[in-house]
Amino acid sequence: LSRLREMKDIKAKVLSNENIGSGYFKMGLEAPSIAKSAKAGQFVQVRCSDTLEPFLRRPFSIHRLKTQNAIEILYEVIGKGTELLARKKKGDFLKVLGPLGNGFTLPRAKGDKRQTAILITGGIGVAPLVFLAEVLAKKKIKMTVLIGAKTKKTLLCEKDFKNLGAKVHIATDDGSKGYKGFVSGLFQKILQANRSTIYTCGPQPMLKSIADICAKNKIKCYASLEEEMACGIGACLGCAVRVKGKGIACKFVCKDGPIFDANEIIWG
Ligand code: FES
Repeated sequence: LSRLREMKDIKAKVLSNENIGSGYFKMGLEAPSIAKSAKAGQFVQVRCSDTLEPFLRRPFSIHRLKTQNAIEILYEVIGKGTELLARKKKGDFLKVLGPLGNGFTLPRAKGDKRQTAILITGGIGVAPLVFLAEVLAKKKIKMTVLIGAKTKKTLLCEKDFKNLGAKVHIATDDGSKGYKGFVSGLFQKILQANRSTIYTCGPQPMLKSIADICAKNKIKCYASLEEEMACGIGACLGCAVRVKGKGIACKFVCKDGPIFDANEIIWG
């Protein structure tokens, strides 16, 4: 709780709230203190209404820095909190706590052969990876991006990655664009003996498959875990994940993550 006292719960002005189709929205929030210190992979806790309903805040990855003073979140309308968020207009205010969590570890220094990255995402899991891709592009680190979606209509951020110079591969469950099947299948297909660092975010079964492939091929993999988060600061103990260690060991997604070395997690 002392961390909560230290942190500023700011009132962020809604700068934009764009419906980008298929139930997805992008929201710009004026939040100078968050934008100035945010690292790719971190998240914010947003209070979606002024009333007590819904009571809990919702966690959202920082999708990108919109300006020096503003962040953007990408979200899918899937419940009461996000429905309320979708109704917010430019000029409204929202309580936002952050930046929270640890952020991605970047590939090693220049000249190291590991200096390439493969970003693998499924569905709304793409949210934190655009921020990461912006950071990698600035550092001139070569990247390949694998985007998975149910269908080409729900494909997200392809252009953003291409504009950053990434080589992009697509996988759709129904084969309406790119490889037909899961993004983990596509990863397996394009995988060569390589020294890239893998960064992945998406549904748990996808993360597990990617983690398994990486473990078998001895590839470094960082996974961003998505969990329900009530407090976001390590106080409620509601976001525990099992990790390898003696006896029953666990870590907390909000405080120790959301980014973990995939090898550390006991995937259910
Ligand atoms: Fe409360 Fe992680 S969300 S401990």
